[in-house]
Amino acid sequence: MDSSYSSSSICCIVIVSILLLDSLLVCNGGKTSIYVRKAEKTVEMPLHSDVFRIPAGYNAPQQVHITQGDHEGKAVIVSWVTPDEPGSNTVVYWSEENCEAKKKAVGKVYTYKFYNYTSGFIHHCTIRNLEYDTKYYYVVGDRKLMRKFWFTTPPAVGPDVPYTFGIIGDLGQTYDSNITLTHYERNPKNGQAVLFVGDLSYADNHPNHDNVRWDTWARFVERSVAYQPWIWTAGNHEIDFAPEIGETKPFKPYTRRYHVPYRASQSTASFWYSIKRASAYIIVLSSYSAYGKYTPQYQWLEQELPKVNRSETPWLIVLMHSPWYNSYNYHYMEGETMRVMYEPWFVEHKVDIVLAGHVHAYERSERISNIAYNIENGKCRPVKDQSAPIYITIGDGGNIEGLANDMTEPQPEYSAYREASFGHAIFDIKNRTHARYSWHRNHDGYAVEADSMWFFNRFWHPVDESSQ
Ligand SMILES: *[C@@H]1O[C@H](CO)[C@@H](O)[C@H](O)[C@H]1NC(C)=O
Ligand SMILES: *[C@@H]1O[C@H](CO)[C@@H](O)[C@H](O)[C@H]1NC(C)=O
Ligand SMILES: *[C@@H]1O[C@H](CO)[C@@H](O)[C@H](O)[C@H]1NC(C)=O
Ligand SMILES: *[C@@H]1O[C@H](CO)[C@@H](O)[C@H](O)[C@H]1NC(C)=O
Ligand SMILES: [Fe+2]
Repeated sequence: MDSSYSSSSICCIVIVSILLLDSLLVCNGGKTSIYVRKAEKTVEMPLHSDVFRIPAGYNAPQQVHITQGDHEGKAVIVSWVTPDEPGSNTVVYWSEENCEAKKKAVGKVYTYKFYNYTSGFIHHCTIRNLEYDTKYYYVVGDRKLMRKFWFTTPPAVGPDVPYTFGIIGDLGQTYDSNITLTHYERNPKNGQAVLFVGDLSYADNHPNHDNVRWDTWARFVERSVAYQPWIWTAGNHEIDFAPEIGETKPFKPYTRRYHVPYRASQSTASFWYSIKRASAYIIVLSSYSAYGKYTPQYQWLEQELPKVNRSETPWLIVLMHSPWYNSYNYHYMEGETMRVMYEPWFVEHKVDIVLAGHVHAYERSERISNIAYNIENGKCRPVKDQSAPIYITIGDGGNIEGLANDMTEPQPEYSAYREASFGHAIFDIKNRTHARYSWHRNHDGYAVEADSMWFFNRFWHPVDESSQ
């Protein structure tokens, strides 16, 4: 398979068939891919699968994962679980250039119960004052049983620093999830950090939200997230609200297991926060926390957006779970109330790209906004807007619930491309004006771009980049 689906002949067929079905109005609408993935059940990998293997040895650290630990990229949060006893809280680390100078950071250990499940000992340790653009080795565990990993810090924050983000959503732990992760790892574009748009383990699809599946998920993704940070967003499968079994504190497993540096951006909860990384300013929002006027998230975002200095971080990226623009018959309009609250701000502050998951398929929008409505004027249609972001829905990691393959027809004009396949994407920032974006379908070779475009920065180069 190559990426030539946009060839004019296919376009003609699509347009002609749309014309036959509907009126002239839709002829400049977007493209629904002609690639149709076979409808198959997605099957969760069984507990004895290789990807869930428990590292050998008494109390061996497992489920190792890292994320950014401060606002600028000079700190890393290292997290891991020990199964039998708390063990050491210490991370030993050193830079590749100076392996004599070993340093130590001390973290904290947490446990939690969920119905009849008791967690292992969950360690979180923040390593601070790292050098930019440096490879570090780190070790977790006790003297008898240590495990060693490494990561590379990002370059210093600056407007023309190239940086490559991977984008993954709604991953779960099926055979398809494993293929998505493998495609991301083997993509020759070499993502340096992952923007994860929510829905991690899908443990809640098991009886009593069997939290063993939170453990297996973390062992499965360790092979990537122990070596590069994943930037976390909370999805609906992180809520784990189960009053029928006495579990009434939302997000309990997620917040115990996944720490993020929310205080560094003056946030008061881990569900919304921001980081700078290289030339990008990343704002993470929560579709499942209050976002109406006067709420903590609203107040935070209102103060946050004006802080973004595009001379320092040209690329303004927003992550959330529930998409605002979605033309599938799944979760249709679930993001609408948040869109109504915040879309005018996104246009005012010229957000470059909004990434969401939730819908288990892929979709890319045009640059559009729908902010003119005022109860009386009837102006409630999306219109082209060069100050608006492009919206990407990428909830197609491969989870147990399977693909969303039922689309609204005809395809709305705001929808540039849509396809019900599993995959991941890459946002490859070149400089302050240009970023190469590509979406990679799981059924293709590792280098194939099934959908791609150049993004032109909305602050430095606000030129129309759409194909029409
Ligand atoms: C929890 O309870 C379920 C049934 O309610 C049972 O199948 C499972 O084995 C129990 N797990 C533990 C760890 O006790
Ligand atoms: C998952 O993918 C890896 C890498 O491609 C492979 O080695 C492993 O066997 C796969 N596991 C399963 C259960 O599919
Ligand atoms: C924005 O960033 C640039 C480059 O770092 C800096 O020179 C400028 O002072 C900053 N502006 C504000 C308002 O902080
Ligand atoms: C920015 O990157 C693009 C794509 O690589 C390139 O064409 C352009 O010349 C670069 N701009 C500058 C100022 O280097
Ligand atoms: Fe979801």
